[in-house]
Amino acid sequence: MSPDHDLVLDIRDLRKVFRVRRGGAVHPVHAVNGISLDVRRGETLGIVGESGCGKSTLARVLLGLSGADGGSVGYEGQDLLRRSRRELTAVRTRIRMVFQDPYASLNPRRSVGDSVAEAGDLHRIFKSRRERAEKIAEALERVGLGADFARNYPHELSGGQRQRVGIARAILPEPDVVIADEPVSALDVSIQAQVLNLLAELKQRLGLTLMFISHDLGVVAKISDRVAVLYMGEVVEIGPARELFVAPRHPYTELLISAIPRPDPSMRITGAVEVSEPPSRLRRQAGCPFRDRCPRATGLCADTAPELRSVAPGRRVSCHHA
Ligand SMILES: Nc1ncnc2c1ncn2[C@@H]1O[C@H](COP(=O)(O)OP(=O)(O)OP(=O)(O)O)[C@@H](O)[C@H]1O
Ligand code: SF4
Ligand SMILES: [Mg+2]
Repeated sequence: MSPDHDLVLDIRDLRKVFRVRRGGAVHPVHAVNGISLDVRRGETLGIVGESGCGKSTLARVLLGLSGADGGSVGYEGQDLLRRSRRELTAVRTRIRMVFQDPYASLNPRRSVGDSVAEAGDLHRIFKSRRERAEKIAEALERVGLGADFARNYPHELSGGQRQRVGIARAILPEPDVVIADEPVSALDVSIQAQVLNLLAELKQRLGLTLMFISHDLGVVAKISDRVAVLYMGEVVEIGPARELFVAPRHPYTELLISAIPRPDPSMRITGAVEVSEPPSRLRRQAGCPFRDRCPRATGLCADTAPELRSVAPGRRVSCHHA
């Protein structure tokens, strides 16, 4: 097979297991349970699923913030999971993260400029103090704040401004890939659209590849080219954002769509599955992981776990009855 230059991250059968103690016993939680994804250059790949489905764990493993228990992550012809600590440190300027909580992710005692420059300082990418100041100014201007914000402190900023600082921090080292984990979930609804637009615009202008993580399929579908739906640590459906949103093939994707709040109740999708609680991640069962909540479940679903299979060009679904 010839190398695919359009592929930025080649994620194969990625696994992460946590051991949690409950009632005197140790239970494995398969937070990321064999995820395979191809992330293409210049795209926005949305990752969506309910709380606990493994979105943040996936992001943390991709960034090397958390070790993996199996699989591989191809990046520039090498496996990120098998790189030395030193090589990984270098990768940290190429693959950057935007976190959910701009309050928690900024050090209150550091000026905005110092926070934005952090990765540059750590990886010694500035040749002079002057270049450092220029890069900070440039990053702050790119996120619509302006160079003067460098002297401010986080408590002097609004939530939206703080998240812009978080984005400036991510883009300063001119990364290849930005992974944004619920970047607008902590913000006022009125600010969310501005920050989403900023991310979309920066992606275009800087030629970034964006992985956009959210529990809200409505938000994800708006910004993404393709969307991967995660359920209990597995990809259950993946496809072009619009197709997946207007014609979901997996019952869980239908559930996520029916859970999107709509201002007008007459717009609510009828005939969609009931919105039920996700099961405990401590329990594992045979067959399809979604079968307890699935209105289409049959005997086959109880016995055999479905595999992710192609149902249309660019469209894969893990369901016996899709
Ligand atoms: N450090 C940890 N130790 C033990 N279990 C963990 C740890 N981190 C995550 N988990 C478990 O792994 C599973 C996936 O968690 P994760 O945070 O990746 O989900 P998520 O999709 O990001 O959820 P949310 O939408 O709430 O952010 C959950 O069951 C969670 O409890
Ligand atoms: S395999 Fe069966 S239980 Fe699982 S989602 Fe499809 S129909 Fe539902
Ligand atoms: Mg999370």
